[in-house]
Amino acid sequence: DKGNYRHFMLKEIFEQPESTARTIGAYVNALNQTAALPNGQTLDFAAFDRVYIVACGTAYYAGCVAKYWFEKYAKLPVETDIASEFRYRDPALTKNALAIFVTQSGETADTLAALRYCKEYGLTTAAVVNVQTSTIAREVDAVLPTLAGAEVGVASTKAFTAQLCSLASIAIIAGRARKVLSKKDEARLTDQLMQIPGLITQALKIEDATKEIAVDLSSARDVLYLGRGTMFPIAMEGALKLKEISYIHAEGYAAGELKHGPIALIDEHTPVVMIAPTDHLLEKTISNMQEVAARHGKVLLISDENGAKTGADTPWQTLIAPACDPFISPILYSVPIQLLAYYIAVEKGTDVDQPRNLAKSVTVE
Ligand code: M6R
Repeated sequence: DKGNYRHFMLKEIFEQPESTARTIGAYVNALNQTAALPNGQTLDFAAFDRVYIVACGTAYYAGCVAKYWFEKYAKLPVETDIASEFRYRDPALTKNALAIFVTQSGETADTLAALRYCKEYGLTTAAVVNVQTSTIAREVDAVLPTLAGAEVGVASTKAFTAQLCSLASIAIIAGRARKVLSKKDEARLTDQLMQIPGLITQALKIEDATKEIAVDLSSARDVLYLGRGTMFPIAMEGALKLKEISYIHAEGYAAGELKHGPIALIDEHTPVVMIAPTDHLLEKTISNMQEVAARHGKVLLISDENGAKTGADTPWQTLIAPACDPFISPILYSVPIQLLAYYIAVEKGTDVDQPRNLAKSVTVE
């Protein structure tokens, strides 16, 4: 049931205050400001020497964000892989690794094959999974649930932010186990997680501003998404969302890669979405933005008040999200890129919930 929403996708975007709250609630004890795996499960994070994160599509991008978290907060080396590559590339696996599979459906053929490959090899396996009765949930050692609820729109939205909430919680748990994070750090970071639902509610208020920008962007042939740090995978996710539902060609790039190729694409017809919250990388991303503007690129800056001030009048348009701690910014900044893709697709009149050629669950390779 779509309720009062025109599409399931929009409904699911607006469900994110609840779906993130539920998911965080499965890992975080708000009273004690601690995090633990759900249902009394344990994973010996102190004993792992690395983590493989394997997934497809949007779930893969959630894994790419998690790499930044695990490496920063738990000093645990992470390799992220696309499942269809991992399963066939003869990966040189280490014995003491944890393999995490990220999947909404729990039925994706390549992800399942990658899981079976790792089990055969004797690795400890875990799944960040939304459908708890799925094949992948049944076959892993540890089930790390996302409580997004049923997701109908083919373009994943609330499942993605739920995956990020689970993975952020797990990174805190790993960081504590590996003594990288103190009790105080754990309290501070869990507290940040608890703020996500409220911040998403605020971020959803950019809906009307996004609609207006979408009218203009709907005539673009190509769109570039740029970001640094955890905003790099968010840029890739933003580009995938736009491709899937609007059929506009889009690419996500690390902003620092601009000079190494993609800047050649920039002209007045190529809109560039710069995703740049206030963090230690803001100045650098803003200078990339100026390079784009100098080549007459039309920049949409997605940032907070402070970032908008720093960007001054260089961007063509600015979308302002609430200020937040850099730890949780990838979760919050998922919202504007979802709304942007959604309203561009609506403007183009595509079948948003059932885009051409795509299936909700890819059970054949
Ligand atoms: O069910 P899964 O999470 O394993 O699905 C993986 C991808 O097929 C999925 O995320 C796909 O990329 C979505 N259509 C993205 O919106």
